[in-house]
Amino acid sequence: MTKPSPLTYKVLSKCSSSKARRGLMILRQNKPVELPVFMPVGTQGTLKGILVDQLKQDNMNCQIMLGNTYHLGLRPGPEILKKVNGLHNFMNWDRALLTDSGGFQMVSLLELAEITEEGVKFQSPFDSTKESMLTPEESIKLQNVIGADIIMQLDDVVKTTTTGPRVEEAMLRTIRWIDRCLEANERNEDQSIFPIVQGGLQPELRKQCAEALTKRDVRGFAVGGLSGGESKDEFWKIVSLSTDLLPENKPRYLMGVGFASDLIVCVALGIDMFDCVFPTRTARFGCALVRKGQLNLRQQKYECDLEPIDKRCKCSTCKTYTRAYIHSIINEPLMCSLVSIHNVYFQLQLMRDIREAIDQDKYPEFVKTYMDELYPENK
Ligand code: GUN
Ligand code: ZN
Repeated sequence: MTKPSPLTYKVLSKCSSSKARRGLMILRQNKPVELPVFMPVGTQGTLKGILVDQLKQDNMNCQIMLGNTYHLGLRPGPEILKKVNGLHNFMNWDRALLTDSGGFQMVSLLELAEITEEGVKFQSPFDSTKESMLTPEESIKLQNVIGADIIMQLDDVVKTTTTGPRVEEAMLRTIRWIDRCLEANERNEDQSIFPIVQGGLQPELRKQCAEALTKRDVRGFAVGGLSGGESKDEFWKIVSLSTDLLPENKPRYLMGVGFASDLIVCVALGIDMFDCVFPTRTARFGCALVRKGQLNLRQQKYECDLEPIDKRCKCSTCKTYTRAYIHSIINEPLMCSLVSIHNVYFQLQLMRDIREAIDQDKYPEFVKTYMDELYPENK
């Protein structure tokens, strides 16, 4: 008997006036992920300040979380992960996991990372005299040990501000690396590699990349190399062009995008999956996400404010705690937990609202209402 596919994707409903689609992705062992989805980032196998039980609670209902190969490869490291049978088991998370391939994190975190045809060369963060190399094969080997349901190819990413031949070189190398990654995957029957469309802000390069990647036998696609300081116009143009070139019957993941307004627009452009460290990172600085934007709870004006972060919010933080209380514990670990829980809930609830609006074919109305509240000056 052939094994069931570790990733199935189905479009459930479509918006009649945009490319927005509501879908269902089912990962191995029957783990459902309702799309469009926002995936919170638990870099090292923890969403800082949030318990696995809290993520699984009915009101939160987080169905997929992200981890990073670079960080998990350092700690707990592959030996321990192998011994405990992978990250799902280690963190007791029986829902879906996705890992990024590590190169992007190295290039953005380590100034000294250098990309060659072989892979990403970097100095050991523990001993700067030691050099290591993350090759496409090594990244997949690590991701096979971590065991996430969806794993990412190693890609060559340039900043969106980069121009000239380097942009094309990175795009072409990304195409060569997907083949090395697919070849290296020892668990293709239960871990799905997503290739990543690169090509900077140049439509021709993006097109060439998407056309090459869609020839590969894969179960989903990502769009990378965006949200790095380009104009919104350029950003939307590249996202839209990419979704036009990707197949209808496979999920599309836009990497590193997480502002509410970007999620709303990019869903309309046909994106199904998003991730971003922003909601959890900003929480640790005391910034809470609300429909109107953000509240910086460090500010003095919240000292006596006995309202919850958001009266309409149904998260466990807003049920019990006031802005004044959170303001008063701003340097305590509990503050980080309370605001992180609210912010992750906020993102997941936004995606639930988006899915409902698409289901009812009321997405344009939803977008208008949301944007009017977020940008009242433009109303
Ligand atoms: N995270 C955000 N953007 C990217 C990208 O282009 N590639 C990878 N691998 N990760 C990302
Ligand atoms: Zn809340």
